[in-house]
Amino acid sequence: MLAGLMGFFAAGCSDATNTAPESSKDAFIDSVLSTLTLEDKAGEMTQLTLDMVCVKEGMNVDEPHRLDPEKLKHVLVDLRVGSILNCAGHAYTPEKWHELIGGIQDKATEKPSGIPVLYGIDAIHGPTYTTGGVLAPQQLGLAATWDTALVRKFAENAAQEVLASGIPWNFSPVLDVARDARWPRFWETFGESPRLVTDMGVAMVKGYQEGPSPIAACLKHYMGYSRPLSGKDRTPAWIPERQLREIFLPPFAAAVEAGAATVMVNSGETNGIPVHADRHILTDILRDELGFEGLVVTDWEDIRYLFKRHKVAADYKDAIEMAIHAGIDMSMVPTDTLFPVLLAELVREGRIAESRLDESVRRILSVKYDRGLFDTGGMPPSIEDYPDKASLEGTAARAALESMTLLKNEGQHAVYPDQPILPIGGTGRILVTGPTANSLNALNGGWTGTWQGRNPKYNTPGRPTAVESMREVFGADRIDLAELDMEFGQADIDAVTRSLHPRTTQCAVVFLGEMPYTEFKGNVETIELFQNQQDLVKAIHATDVPVIGVYVGGRPRTHSAIEPLLDAFLMAYLPGDYGARAIADVLSGDFNPSGRLPFTWPRHPSSHLTHDCKHTELNEGGFNPQYTFGSGLSYSPVQTTNLEILTGESANMGDTVTVEVTLQNTGDRSTTETVIVYSQDRVASITPSVDELAAYKQVVVPAGATSKVTLDVHTHNLGFIGRNNMYIVEPGYFGLRIQDQFAEFELIAP
Ligand code: GLC
Repeated sequence: MLAGLMGFFAAGCSDATNTAPESSKDAFIDSVLSTLTLEDKAGEMTQLTLDMVCVKEGMNVDEPHRLDPEKLKHVLVDLRVGSILNCAGHAYTPEKWHELIGGIQDKATEKPSGIPVLYGIDAIHGPTYTTGGVLAPQQLGLAATWDTALVRKFAENAAQEVLASGIPWNFSPVLDVARDARWPRFWETFGESPRLVTDMGVAMVKGYQEGPSPIAACLKHYMGYSRPLSGKDRTPAWIPERQLREIFLPPFAAAVEAGAATVMVNSGETNGIPVHADRHILTDILRDELGFEGLVVTDWEDIRYLFKRHKVAADYKDAIEMAIHAGIDMSMVPTDTLFPVLLAELVREGRIAESRLDESVRRILSVKYDRGLFDTGGMPPSIEDYPDKASLEGTAARAALESMTLLKNEGQHAVYPDQPILPIGGTGRILVTGPTANSLNALNGGWTGTWQGRNPKYNTPGRPTAVESMREVFGADRIDLAELDMEFGQADIDAVTRSLHPRTTQCAVVFLGEMPYTEFKGNVETIELFQNQQDLVKAIHATDVPVIGVYVGGRPRTHSAIEPLLDAFLMAYLPGDYGARAIADVLSGDFNPSGRLPFTWPRHPSSHLTHDCKHTELNEGGFNPQYTFGSGLSYSPVQTTNLEILTGESANMGDTVTVEVTLQNTGDRSTTETVIVYSQDRVASITPSVDELAAYKQVVVPAGATSKVTLDVHTHNLGFIGRNNMYIVEPGYFGLRIQDQFAEFELIAP
């Protein structure tokens, strides 16, 4: 049936991404929809994981992974499934992806509707499931660059490899706002600031969708997923509507405005309502308020979980009815074949109107249309068209460098006693130790090669670990490696320190942090740094060998007990395949660090405060983070002085307030300075935050130079969600702060 339509359509479409006018698209979708049966529609709303169409004897898919013709027929021809996701456990070569997706799309032509399958993947820091792919830092590190142009470029590059693998839909970006370091997906976010998350999220969406090889982005996990009371994945969140709109909604609103194609729903519950059953969030806000017209897909198995976990539905059919009426378009089922059958039953029973399915199928067909599936049949491009990775690596490597955040640099330089210890000088021996010193997996984090990112088998050969890059940069003959795994004990520590002496070892670089995890596998009872890692630092410090800490991990772990023992401390986040070299280039001084923390680093495991905390949280030293949001050092410090509001002491509603500061580079190297303006509402009808991120700008200040820089603060951005849950900007006095410089102006009522 579709062949005729595709023939009609193909006549009007030139390349893999459709650019025909909307009317032609609507006409095409209407014509396809008019040919679909109830079973076709239910099938289009079904997404299954790749395992479901692969040869699988036991628990795991048979190696080498290969399609099972019978399963393919049942899933595609009988059940008419419209979407397939994921890999069946691990990464594949581009050629293997082409074999699998080509086989799926071939079989899809035998669907009664003939509609191609929409394939989705989690390529969250580059093509994470395509072996050899260019892997950039995870989002938390990308945020630390404060460089939206770079993030957009990264996303464009990632889209090239993902699409070249045959995949047009990427379950990225994460737009959750990270407010609690216990939460195991902290590292998958752009940090704690709704403003920074918004800017980075929009940049990533545009990079995925508007680059040379566009793919569909997916905003996740809408919304309120990142603030569970317990800090544990998929546990209840209490987020009143006002906070939901103040903190968690803005990134999604902006990304919808930016044209995001799809949204994935939060698996958790907010205020006792599972979001997958919450029509207020999924329809009233997302559709009616934000005007989102794209595809809403569930997260993993979340319709079944409405009765299996959340207990708000009596059975599977109840759960389906609830979720569809809340606003779900596609179910990531993903491991049962009941969903489409029960969905069709519900329509026949009159519990769901077929017109409701038509709404969802339109949205699904729209994504398939926009991704050119009706033109290409969803077939992968030619393997010869796979992008030249050398052209992509520079951006990933640059992102790793720009993410590096130097949080402490004291002690004594090996050659210039009046200088701090970094960059490492001299020629003395360097001890490299710690559990993340020799692991590429530690540098990449979860969703890399495998779901948990822990299997070195799928790492790209030749991509160095931290110690390998240290050898490359400092010279192998200077580096002594004392390798430790995560479970090292006192005997291992004793072995490390036994031979240490300042006469023989110039300094120790201790690689602290975590091994990869994601989702519930990363749940913790405390975010205190592992005791053995603290003991290691103490023991090395006791030998009088200077200690440089490098933290490789996706959430801050508190280390206040040993922080004074560290001469320097570098946050490397999860910097990706080029992160080892970035670390070594910063430690050697080959790169002047410019990263700025996108979150507040707690001093104690129980303190989950953020930069936009309230005044009552400052009392009695309540807000005393180890390192503040936006902090980061460079090797050539830039002094900020003379903050001035150029537009005067007052401004009218709707005006733009322009501030100016003087930047003086007091060192001998050019520095990239991120100038951050915080606004401070003096009096408001809702308790104002101590600081709100109002504007930021990156400026290169040459060595020894003094320059002035201006930034604009739009008064419309000085508002908040008021008592009626509506956004409001109130007149009154506002402070503006850059570093330790303050100025004030009055916002005049209209
Ligand atoms: C997971 C994650 C989600 C991911 C999806 C598909 O459960 O919550 O982020 O995109 O399943 O892999």
